[in-house]
Amino acid sequence: MITAWNLPAEPNLFVGRESDVDELVQLLDVARVVTLCGAGGIGKTRLAIRLAARVAPRFSGGARLVDLSDLGADVSVADHVAAALGLAADSGTPLPERIGDRRVLVVLDNCEQLVGECAELSRDLVGACPGVTVLATSREPLRVPGETVWRVPPLSLGGDPRRSEAVRLFHARAAAVRPGFELSDELLPQVVRLCRALDGLPLAIELAAAMVRALSLRQLIERLDDRFRLLSAGARTAPARQRTLRAAVDWSYRLLSEQERLLLRRLAVFRSCWTLDVAEWVCQGDGLPEEEVLARLCDLVDKSLVVVDGEIAGEARYRLLETVREYAVEQLSQTDEEMELRRAHLAAMARLAVEFKQAVAPGARTSWAVMERFGNLFDGLKSEISAALDWSIAIGRQEVALRMLTDMRYMLVASGRNLGLAGPLDRLLATETGDLGLLGQATVLRGELAVQSGDLATAARCARSGLGMCRSAGDSYGEAVGMILRAQTSGEQEPLRQALEVAARSGDAILASIAQGTRAGLALHEGRLHEARRAFEEVLALCERLDNHWGLSNGHIGLAQVARRVGDSATAKRHYESGLRLVRHVDARQQTISCLAGLGRVALEQGDLREARARLTEALELSRDAGLRTGIARRLEAWAGLLVAEGDERRAVLLMSASVALRERRPEAREEEILAPARRSLGEALVAQLWAEGAAMSADEAVRCALDGTLPERSDVPVVPMGQDSKLTARELEVAELVSRGLSNKGIADELVISPATAARHVANILAKLGFCTRTQIAAWVIEQR
Ligand SMILES: Nc1ncnc2c1ncn2[C@@H]1O[C@H](COP(=O)(O)OP(=O)(O)OP(=O)(O)O)[C@@H](O)[C@H]1O
Ligand SMILES: [Mg+2]
Repeated sequence: MITAWNLPAEPNLFVGRESDVDELVQLLDVARVVTLCGAGGIGKTRLAIRLAARVAPRFSGGARLVDLSDLGADVSVADHVAAALGLAADSGTPLPERIGDRRVLVVLDNCEQLVGECAELSRDLVGACPGVTVLATSREPLRVPGETVWRVPPLSLGGDPRRSEAVRLFHARAAAVRPGFELSDELLPQVVRLCRALDGLPLAIELAAAMVRALSLRQLIERLDDRFRLLSAGARTAPARQRTLRAAVDWSYRLLSEQERLLLRRLAVFRSCWTLDVAEWVCQGDGLPEEEVLARLCDLVDKSLVVVDGEIAGEARYRLLETVREYAVEQLSQTDEEMELRRAHLAAMARLAVEFKQAVAPGARTSWAVMERFGNLFDGLKSEISAALDWSIAIGRQEVALRMLTDMRYMLVASGRNLGLAGPLDRLLATETGDLGLLGQATVLRGELAVQSGDLATAARCARSGLGMCRSAGDSYGEAVGMILRAQTSGEQEPLRQALEVAARSGDAILASIAQGTRAGLALHEGRLHEARRAFEEVLALCERLDNHWGLSNGHIGLAQVARRVGDSATAKRHYESGLRLVRHVDARQQTISCLAGLGRVALEQGDLREARARLTEALELSRDAGLRTGIARRLEAWAGLLVAEGDERRAVLLMSASVALRERRPEAREEEILAPARRSLGEALVAQLWAEGAAMSADEAVRCALDGTLPERSDVPVVPMGQDSKLTARELEVAELVSRGLSNKGIADELVISPATAARHVANILAKLGFCTRTQIAAWVIEQR
């Protein structure tokens, strides 16, 4: 599901540009890439947001703002766009393919630092996705074919001066800092002069207007003239507007008090945004006591150097405009404070993690409202958390970073939000710095993240090594979470018993609830329904006492599954609905998906096909966006059931087969429920052919086939009926050999100079002839034959 909007609310009055917006609205009807170009501070971002809000209703998939100024060290533009669209990063499938033909407006803000990458991505997006329009802001054009470069003009100053945009902006902002500020006939010419000197640049005008609080207009103009003379002498080569802006920022910086300057410089350490608490922790120090930070921050807001927009977990969210941030970064780099600040920044993030850890410690009576607040806080400060991790190795603070991650552990695993931290965690672990217990816990956490993304091999490896380290270090908590991970990856029961013992000894109800939940899940999987029900009820009881909605929701999902197994749809429905209600206000994707999918299946069982289709659509879209293969595979299986009920057996067979292939497992009895009626109505041969085609579909093809009925591309290789025993052809032997070398269909296609669809068909035939269902089985067979 691409959530429709993420455009920020406008923080203050937007002035003028009416005809510009009208013109651009029309332009976006015909142009697929529009770049708003111009100097820093000329108003590109404001204009883009205004424009996007106007045209958003045209885009059924929504309008999404992607701010590229806070891009982390190893995040690609494509991943950033994916995240802004609500898609999981790095699913292995190229972004354009994942967007498909959805109609979305992608607003790429601040492209200048990554012009090349933005250009490539824009070209790919408009090339492959007919419904995508790109609106970019940049100090320079992207230079891609089909791009319309629209130069953002300065605010107008001609005609009736009182009506001009520049004067209106000055007036609005001055009145905001000095209530009652009137533009008398006497003042008007001075304001016009000032705006002219500032080249009609909105940011420069705002900075100047903020100063009428303390200075008269005459004083303002005199001082401005001084500054300009000084600066333009030094930077003759820079374009005029850039010089003006630099002069304006520099000038307002110089008019700040020593403490304000100190704070502005220190704020440059934030990659994206901050809250008051965090600013107090990070920016206090020499020359600025903690209790002064708030007052100075307010001063900087008044002077238009800091912007307040939006909220993070109920607290005001602050940030610097890009131009001001660049200036502040430059000022900071001229001091020797930078390293110290990075450390303070990491320490602040670590402090939040410690607070969270205390909130979930045994015996802490933390309400769900507080937990929810933590969830939203970590989401809001995501860029800062990854910035701190990016820097931790460079400033030699790996241990602090690792501890921060392990302190956040429950947040990351219980809610299914991994915040994109697997990559940084891998890098930190590779430095092998930290005590054994810490490394052990961090390794287990890595494994838990792997479970979330369906990478069970990595999870099992991490369970083994993490558990070993925690044991050697005598860290009983680490050992307990390691054992739960081990049970999750191996299906063993014994480790759970031990984990439950640790939980009982330490009075850790959260740990107990996770162990019970895992036990219940295993029992359910193995058909021990009584045990499963008891354990899920235990999870509910534990989480009820804890007021923990993540756990409660999991308990309800489990009980719903048990109810479905015994054919009690009404009870199942009730539990799924309760589960969904519990996680309404936070991002708990996994739980939401499970409940929606469950409700879809129940509706299907009750014969309510409309409701089933609606719920299963939502669930499949969310799974696709989260990029979880096993999740997609499960949803496809439910879809196959829906399609049979709707009478579309062809697609049902395709999706069932794709679902089995994606999970790399053998067909089981429950597939027969779909296949038997299909065989009767379509015939053996066609079902076999469809089965082979389904097995060759990629996850995205299968999702498209479900959601919009698109059928996969046909290839030129005939299909072998399933289970037919015949020898492999020479070509198939060749393909099998390549499969055993680990090549994908694309790789095989490249090697043999055939189309990927043909390669897929060969692979499907090999599977059918040998009676296998995974590529690994083919590989093992090839090795045996040698
Ligand atoms: N039309 C307008 N009405 C009111 N305020 C405006 C307008 N245009 C710009 N501003 C204000 O001027 C400042 C600079 O604008 P903005 O951030 O959009 O510039 P930009 O061109 O995107 O700069 P950068 O290149 O640094 O990103 C902001 O505080 C913004 O709110
Ligand atoms: Mg901008």
